[in-house]
Amino acid sequence: MSKIPVCSPLLSGNELAYVTEAVSTGWISSSGKYVAEFEKAFAAYCGVRHGIAVCNGTVALHLALTALGIGPGDEVIIPDFTMIASAFAVCYTGAKPVFVDADEATWNMNANLIEDGITSRTKAIMPVHIFGNPCDMAALRRIAEKHALAVVEDAAEAHGAEFGGVKTGKLGDLAAFSFFANKNITTGEGGMVVTDDGELARTCRYRKNLCFPPDAPRTYLHGDIGFNYRMSNLHAALGLAQTERADRYGALRIRHGLLYRELLSSVPGIVLQEDQPEGKNVFWMNGLCVQPEEYGRRRDELAARLAGNGVETRLFFNGMHRQPALKKYGCDCAGRYPVSDFLADNGLYLPSGSGLEETDIRHICKLILEYRR
Ligand SMILES: Cc1ncc(COP(=O)(O)O)c(C=O)c1O
Repeated sequence: MSKIPVCSPLLSGNELAYVTEAVSTGWISSSGKYVAEFEKAFAAYCGVRHGIAVCNGTVALHLALTALGIGPGDEVIIPDFTMIASAFAVCYTGAKPVFVDADEATWNMNANLIEDGITSRTKAIMPVHIFGNPCDMAALRRIAEKHALAVVEDAAEAHGAEFGGVKTGKLGDLAAFSFFANKNITTGEGGMVVTDDGELARTCRYRKNLCFPPDAPRTYLHGDIGFNYRMSNLHAALGLAQTERADRYGALRIRHGLLYRELLSSVPGIVLQEDQPEGKNVFWMNGLCVQPEEYGRRRDELAARLAGNGVETRLFFNGMHRQPALKKYGCDCAGRYPVSDFLADNGLYLPSGSGLEETDIRHICKLILEYRR
């Protein structure tokens, strides 16, 4: 039986040619030409002035928060329903993440609940465009402006998504992307901070390279504590080739997402993520939640059934308030997060890679439909 993976990368452009060129010329470290070319191309794709390539999306978030000067004693608002890296990046700065429950329809941070989490220590809001579905950035920016807070987009999952006709990456003060192998644009492992602000970009560039002064001769004297978050030329070679095809890969993801929706939206007991009005969803992952009373089966039974038929799935993230590591760190995990709990307990991702075949999607949806009782 052939297996349908949850996600495998689509590398159908200049990926091999560029990586081969990097290897054959010996430029494999972060000093090669593809790093700057990828930064330029990806920033242009987002419609922003600056891109700072780093080695993964988690450190991209950390770098962005550091550039804003966020540190011990500060708080950052994040969604409860997100991948753990969003919270960890805040913890790396010494600040505390504060959690906001998800919206029932879009599964993004519920903008109506954000102000409940704001205190005198809050410095930033970090929305996550969950599964490629952009957040209500108009509402979010209104709140940020009212309370003089910075906005850092966790756009790890949302390359090319839009809100109000503006692409992710340009919707806050800074944004962080991941290029992990399952992302719509991938470098295997990789990340980027993007921003329109020249000063923030300069700080990111300085900090990501051990605080070597970018424009001065190397004295090996360092005025600040920096990080080695550099991306290699090999990874950037992949990234440039992927960015050249970003629109094509993105369109495939959207086509697949819309087909899943068409085939599953009327199955009783199957709940799908809804688009944000004014948003352009890029369907990084196609998730569903099972309502056991309506569907007649539990989520784990459906996952087992699909696995038995060669269809790989993954469970949704557990909410941040459930994370032992964050409790230990001193986060306030005592609140109620009913939507996040529902998603974590009933959600799974279906195969979503850009290279998926339409026949695979039809086969998967048929299995889901027929298994209902
Ligand atoms: C919402 C979110 N933030 C951050 C990250 C971290 O990215 P990376 O795995 O590249 O470190 C991910 C990874 O998938 C993510 O989904």
